[in-house]
Amino acid sequence: MSKLKIWFLLPLLLVMIYSAKSDGWEEWCIADEQTSDSELQVGLDWACGIGGANCSKIQVGQACFWPNTVRAHASYAFNNYFQKFKHRGGSCYFNGAAIITGLDPSHNSCHYEFSP
Ligand SMILES: *[C@@H]1O[C@H](CO)[C@@H](O)[C@H](O)[C@H]1NC(C)=O
Repeated sequence: MSKLKIWFLLPLLLVMIYSAKSDGWEEWCIADEQTSDSELQVGLDWACGIGGANCSKIQVGQACFWPNTVRAHASYAFNNYFQKFKHRGGSCYFNGAAIITGLDPSHNSCHYEFSP
């Protein structure tokens, strides 16, 4: 490679490394669109039970209660579980009911946690 090319590419490379580090890849775990409500319900029950997710925000009157659907509640619970345990072996799987997204699923006052 010519010296000219290296001096041209080096700044680009540094920018790429820097932006990858500063933004990271923020990822949330939500219900897969293709998963049925009954499968989501199983995952939701597990996440909020044995799984150890904090499901207080999807209880009646709390910020993530609306929309009051199995799908929305499962998304919240899957993500809460994933963010809480991803560094300790927890995965975004739930028997295939969950999927990773790069789009923040937060809406109105319902905030989906993200842990770096
Ligand atoms: C669950 O979350 C709520 C609000 O987000 C918080 O007040 C509560 O302390 C949490 N509970 C546990 C067990 O972490």
